Amino acid sequence: MKKEVSPAPILKGTIKLPADKSISHRSVMFASLHKGQSSIHNFSSAADPHSTIECMQGLGVTVRKTGNTVEVEGVGRDGLQSPKEDLNCGNSGTTMRLLSGIIAGSGVSARLVGDESLSARTMKRIIDPLTQMGAEITARANDFAPLQINRTGPLKPLHFPLPIPSAQLKSCVLLAGLFGDKATEVIETLPSRDHTERLLDLPITEKNGQRHIYSSQADDIPAQDYRIPNDFSAAAFWLVAGAVHSNAEITLPNVGMNPTRFGALDILIQMGADITVRNEHNEGAEPVADVTVCSSDLKPIKITEEIVPNCIDEIPILMIAMLFADGVSHVSGAEELRHKETDRLKAMGEMLSKAGADVTEHKDGFEIRGDSDFRPEPASYDSFHDHRIAMSAAVLSMMGDQPSQIKDAECTAISYPSFWDDLSLLTN
Ligand code: S3P
Repeated sequence: MKKEVSPAPILKGTIKLPADKSISHRSVMFASLHKGQSSIHNFSSAADPHSTIECMQGLGVTVRKTGNTVEVEGVGRDGLQSPKEDLNCGNSGTTMRLLSGIIAGSGVSARLVGDESLSARTMKRIIDPLTQMGAEITARANDFAPLQINRTGPLKPLHFPLPIPSAQLKSCVLLAGLFGDKATEVIETLPSRDHTERLLDLPITEKNGQRHIYSSQADDIPAQDYRIPNDFSAAAFWLVAGAVHSNAEITLPNVGMNPTRFGALDILIQMGADITVRNEHNEGAEPVADVTVCSSDLKPIKITEEIVPNCIDEIPILMIAMLFADGVSHVSGAEELRHKETDRLKAMGEMLSKAGADVTEHKDGFEIRGDSDFRPEPASYDSFHDHRIAMSAAVLSMMGDQPSQIKDAECTAISYPSFWDDLSLLTN
């Protein structure tokens, strides 16, 4: 579907965001590993968490979804069954990487497949540690899905300093470790999202500025009975849209405010965005709050390596904010964006050039010469079937003087199925 996005004279309203995608995936995986019933409320309606539900069903778990509530009859760590059919992870890297840890740890045999984009994303980062733990993994070109995972020998505990600050890799190894009689230890230098540790309440120690996270059979896996917060990563599109637009006031209730996720909020506030956070409280193990953004005058910013893991999914939309900040902004240490649903640095480079922006792409980031009076040229933007690229293009297009088009715009359903409806709501 090609979507036309017109300049928006106004951007006002209250948006019910989709539930957090990362927590939705984990809640259904962990509920399956708990022996007994779990009820998960406000589960994401997006396509990616749905792939996780289908995979857990494929492993023999009864999962029922009615509206946004998911009921899981958890089978416990020893109750998973080897599936007869392939487990289809769709477009979801989180599903494939976390599930590989569960499969390797549990000792069931399974073949994991994904769509074209997922089949082109590196899996070597998880294959190496899981193989050291005793899994036998066959992958296309030793790196890519389909992944066939078996384990005939015993599960070995692993001492694993993370080679890249990836929450998917960290979670994969910790989930495999949950099946071991001796503790697996993951050492993290730059903090990445910590939903796995929080929801499983895993033991953590801090030494010399590093986090050591442990998992083993001894860790209880609690029932997952809570309401999932709304997705900060979805909120980020409206936070930027509201900040750059001259006639905006957008309220986003119940947004997940996990400190390992809200790097983009800190960055926007440093840029001078008019953002108010109210009603801070906890939902289960996760902090939430209501957030309002109003039209703002933005200053340029530097995003460097240390903060990247806390805003990894938000960098494309933050680059749109930088276009409207008077002065030169920089993004560096963000090469990991080349390994997402598409090469997001390349995709953004192409988008911003089409818009007529003054940008220079580097191997690991960008230099963006912004201007508060910048108006993107009308263009036909390629989403590269990547939900976050499509939504970034939509925010950019709203700021033009004439309509633009976004190709394959339906891909927003991967994380934000009501995105286009919410855009209409705010502009009417
Ligand atoms: C995710 C972790 C991040 C993020 C992805 C979701 C997760 O990936 O980009 O959208 O739920 O753990 P990496 O940890 O590989 O950077």
